[in-house]
Amino acid sequence: MAFVPRVFSGIKPSGDLHLGNYLGAIKRFVPLQDTHQTIYCVVDMHAITVWQEPEDLRRWTYEIAAGYIAAGLDPTRSIIFNQSQVMEHAELSWIFNCVARMGWMERMTQFKDKAGENAEAVSLGLFAYPSLMAADILLYKSTGVPVGDDQKQHLELTRDIAKKFNHDFRRQTKALGYEADYFPITETLATGPAMRVKSLKDGARKMSKSDASDLSTIYMMDDADAIAKKIKRATTDPEPLPSEAAGLEGRAEAENLVGIYAALAGTSVVDVLTEFGGAGWGRFKPALSDLAVSVLAPIAGEMRRLVGDFTEMDRILRDGADRARAIAQPHMDEIRKIVGFVR
Ligand code: TRP
Repeated sequence: MAFVPRVFSGIKPSGDLHLGNYLGAIKRFVPLQDTHQTIYCVVDMHAITVWQEPEDLRRWTYEIAAGYIAAGLDPTRSIIFNQSQVMEHAELSWIFNCVARMGWMERMTQFKDKAGENAEAVSLGLFAYPSLMAADILLYKSTGVPVGDDQKQHLELTRDIAKKFNHDFRRQTKALGYEADYFPITETLATGPAMRVKSLKDGARKMSKSDASDLSTIYMMDDADAIAKKIKRATTDPEPLPSEAAGLEGRAEAENLVGIYAALAGTSVVDVLTEFGGAGWGRFKPALSDLAVSVLAPIAGEMRRLVGDFTEMDRILRDGADRARAIAQPHMDEIRKIVGFVR
């Protein structure tokens, strides 16, 4: 069989799925199905590195899986599953905990940001988070990972872990009949211009499920009224839209709304400004609302149908986990041998 590159990505079930997850991640996962073997995970084990109400965790796990499918991921072409169903993730992450160095982990900026002043009180799991992420990726020997800039450092760490493992266990890997290194050096997959959706209330912060203001985030299951209201009340400046992209510089909120429009319409910022240059917000915002509703309403409808059908969702996730395991288990058998575990 011809070599088909394999991609892996994951989203944490720690809140309702929102427009940032869709435009920044899921929408970009879809076309990769045509060119790669695609594995898309709901990383529930990562979610519990901070406290999650168990009922919420379960609901969000179904919701993200439903969002994947409603947005165009085909569960027969992609492997769609939740992490905790494939215990090899936990097993490999332990081995990686013993490969990664304290100094590498202490440099992780996401940990420092999340732990803040409170570093003594956060979970050990939060510190080990990037090691589990490396296990997610390397368990399948994935060669590409489509993620945003905020995950760059974690991918670098993944490569460092792969390199150190490959180096430390070179002799054992050779003895197994491998000519080359055991783990691939995984690349960040660029999938077109990066769309980092920002908060509707503050163009300097990314749209997130943990924002204090309800108006800052468009959720995938929002109805048309909620979407229209949030866009109407989105923070802007008093200037009309510029006719050229350079005119968006220093106007973070305007840039965000124009970027959202372009991403939803599948066009470029330049095209949007050609159409709306000179227009005021009173014209642009209703147009953005209509576009957002027309794109998001069918996805929300399908998500609602899917999350209402537990039997179907469980079947899809179990089938995905079985197919993930079929790749993971032979790798794990080799890794145990390489490390020297007796079976
Ligand atoms: N850390 C990623 C995020 O916060 C989620 C994630 C976990 C992930 N495991 C992964 C992403 C493996 C890509 C590949 O967005």
